[in-house]
Amino acid sequence: MPETTIALHPAPRARVQAMKEYHPPLGCRDALRLDFNENTLACSPKVREVLAGISAGSLTRYPEREPVEAIVAKHLGLAPAQVALTNGVDEAIHVLFETFLEAGDELLLPVPTYTMYEVYASATNARVVTVQAADDLQFPFERLLSAITPRTKIIAIANPNSPSGSVATREQIVELARRTPHALLLVDEAYFHFYGETVADLIGAIPNLMLARTFSKAYGLAGLRLGLLAGPVELMRWVRRVLSPYSVNSLALACLPPALEDTAYLDWYVGEVVAARRQFETALDAAGVRRWPSQANFVLVEIGAKHAAFTQRMREVGVLVRDRSSDPGCDGRVRITIGTQEQMRQAAIALNEALEGNKNRDVGN
Ligand SMILES: Cc1ncc(COP(=O)(O)O)c(C=O)c1O
Repeated sequence: MPETTIALHPAPRARVQAMKEYHPPLGCRDALRLDFNENTLACSPKVREVLAGISAGSLTRYPEREPVEAIVAKHLGLAPAQVALTNGVDEAIHVLFETFLEAGDELLLPVPTYTMYEVYASATNARVVTVQAADDLQFPFERLLSAITPRTKIIAIANPNSPSGSVATREQIVELARRTPHALLLVDEAYFHFYGETVADLIGAIPNLMLARTFSKAYGLAGLRLGLLAGPVELMRWVRRVLSPYSVNSLALACLPPALEDTAYLDWYVGEVVAARRQFETALDAAGVRRWPSQANFVLVEIGAKHAAFTQRMREVGVLVRDRSSDPGCDGRVRITIGTQEQMRQAAIALNEALEGNKNRDVGN
């Protein structure tokens, strides 16, 4: 009898086997959370009221996204057909890449930038082409233009960018889109509220411009997983073929209208963060810590060779920060989320203690 080999586990696609594992360092975050650029306080009380009123019966129904998409589109000054709600911006990126990236296509990325662009691109058969920012971490506009090829299919830029906090100007974005009529330009405005500049008004007018926004940051709804993708109707039609009709759950859909309506809460929180950013930058300057100018709710700082000890020491004194040393061009750099002014006073004290701890280790060495 011929011997049969039974494969116990079917093999995943070769591309998936080549992917790196990605585990965001969550877990045991019972401290001042300045590590994930979240809202560090709470969402609007109006959202909490709506959440408290959700009935068990309403959970038996599949979520209906269209009415809420119409509300969000109106808020952005766009047509409903130009906007899709997503399970966070992460799903927007994932779906966009799945819809448009073919084998041999190139995803062009200025780096350092948000990790998930590369993660989702690596699950497709496209090639990731990165353009390194200079030491000032400013948007590498000229280098990006030089890296465009006929195979460039998507250019993804976070504006403001993470972890640098730097921005691309409106003129640069328009010029990039104009120079790549064969590609999509995704502008990820996750941190828009802390910056105030947008290209939402150009959606539809520029045929290859796409926009992403999140409710995870200023709105304080990271746990609900809510984001959006906007673009010309002709492109959104294809995206909707790939997007799950139910990926945004009914709790998130119920919470979105009150979150949008409560502009007083949003304005207060953003004002608090912007004031705290200024205050914390002053503390960094006083401590002699190099920092990069930021238009977002975080600041990247230079800690140097002892970045891991610093991050650990900050944790020990109750403040979580994010070591970005493994990001391209970021060795020795740590990203600190900006919370309220009171929280940042606490963070500044912790920072000085952690720096002192690093110095004492020098003495011991
Ligand atoms: C630039 C950028 N885009 C998107 C996201 C993720 O957004 P969401 O929580 O909506 O998936 C982040 C989160 O840190 C980010 O920094």
